Amino acid sequence: MADVPPGVKGMNDILPPEVSKWQFLEQNARDVLDAFAYRELRTPVLEYTPLFVRSVGEVTDVVEKQMYTFDDRDGRSVSLRPEGTASAVRAYIETARWNAEPVTRWYYVGPMFRHEKAQRGRLRQFHQIGAEVFGAAEPSLDAEMIAMIVMMLERFGLPAGSLDVTVNSLGEPEERAAYRDTLVTYFSAHVDKLDEDSRRRLTTNPLRILDSKNPDVIAVAAGAPNLLDSLGEGSRARFARVRELLTGLGVKHQVEPRLVRGLDYYTGTIFEVKTEAGDLGSQNTIVGGGRYDRLVGSLGGKATPAIGFALGIERILLAMPEAAESFEPAVSVFFAPMDEAALAFAMPIAHSLRADGIRVEIEHRPRNVGAMMKRADKLRARAAVIIGSNEIASGKLTVKDLAHGKQSEVSVADLATKVRQLLD
Ligand code: HAM
Repeated sequence: MADVPPGVKGMNDILPPEVSKWQFLEQNARDVLDAFAYRELRTPVLEYTPLFVRSVGEVTDVVEKQMYTFDDRDGRSVSLRPEGTASAVRAYIETARWNAEPVTRWYYVGPMFRHEKAQRGRLRQFHQIGAEVFGAAEPSLDAEMIAMIVMMLERFGLPAGSLDVTVNSLGEPEERAAYRDTLVTYFSAHVDKLDEDSRRRLTTNPLRILDSKNPDVIAVAAGAPNLLDSLGEGSRARFARVRELLTGLGVKHQVEPRLVRGLDYYTGTIFEVKTEAGDLGSQNTIVGGGRYDRLVGSLGGKATPAIGFALGIERILLAMPEAAESFEPAVSVFFAPMDEAALAFAMPIAHSLRADGIRVEIEHRPRNVGAMMKRADKLRARAAVIIGSNEIASGKLTVKDLAHGKQSEVSVADLATKVRQLLD
């Protein structure tokens, strides 16, 4: 037999039972987002490339090294989205949404694409749940969003104690630019200790040197001037307010002055959440986000403050301790017809239970009852309905309570009620 062509490296199928764990996570996220009055947004996975170049930033790793970019059949450069914020901003601007509502709260769920080195917790097609709020600059919104994220993570079953929430402020773009100059001066004096990547960043994106994973660079970066020290009074007061409100909401967090994030659009508050749960290794950042108050304006929209975040579904699933099987719904009722006539008799009955929302599986290959009961057990069915010629003649079905091994006779008309009793 010929070999099947393999799936693309770093892009996974999500099969049962794993998919049940995904559904649990997505449903809980939606419930929390609903409670905070967010509404869902769905955008295409493909965008014209300049959207990402102008928002995420030309000299970021994501744009420089990781995008799946190609010319479409019309010869236009398109990219698979590496993240969701750029598309949300495009949709916001194209619909001039600021005219429709003063504050827009959107969320999205879906695949993102980055050509990274595939490893545990790092995929080339991964999935995010993200949210963006447009139109509010108040620090209370920053605190509300971070607290919402923590609520969500706890809802997924990650213990609050395993979460590490870090915050920082990049200040106004002018303050960030001034800090950039300070950093260039500092790192230029230590250029001999920088690796090639960091030397390149010295001219393109010096803040990213603070993010280096190279121990030699980390040692130099430890002595670098502190970003928070270079902020003006307004930015400092605003950041203090965010922290105060976070504390009021019971969110434990730490300030990490070296947190810079890898995307260029950020201004003001930025944050990440890491977790100790599971064995994520170095890929343990499960959430990232922050303010981007200038992006809507710089992409051609009305100047609108904004803030958002995205969480990595795959990483969170790895951190959740429960096995995927425990999220799978069991079959409620298994129909076991003993012959073809019993199967024909059973089908409309099963059909009406299903219309009532009861999860039913029918054995379509009638055979001996023992074999069929084994299958019912395997499916973890709550009850089995056994149908043979006697049952057809009497109109009374044999219902077996599989949890207690008890058997009873139930008329067709009473079956739904009986099943509901067993399921309660
Ligand atoms: P990000 O930090 O690039 O931010 O990604 C957010 C999260 O997506 C990460 O914390 C991680 O959990 C997950 N993630 C990223 N890359 C991968 C990968 N290759 N494999 C698995 N998981 C990954 C953003 O994407 C921003 N758009 C967030 C945002 C929204 N900021 C403002 N609004």
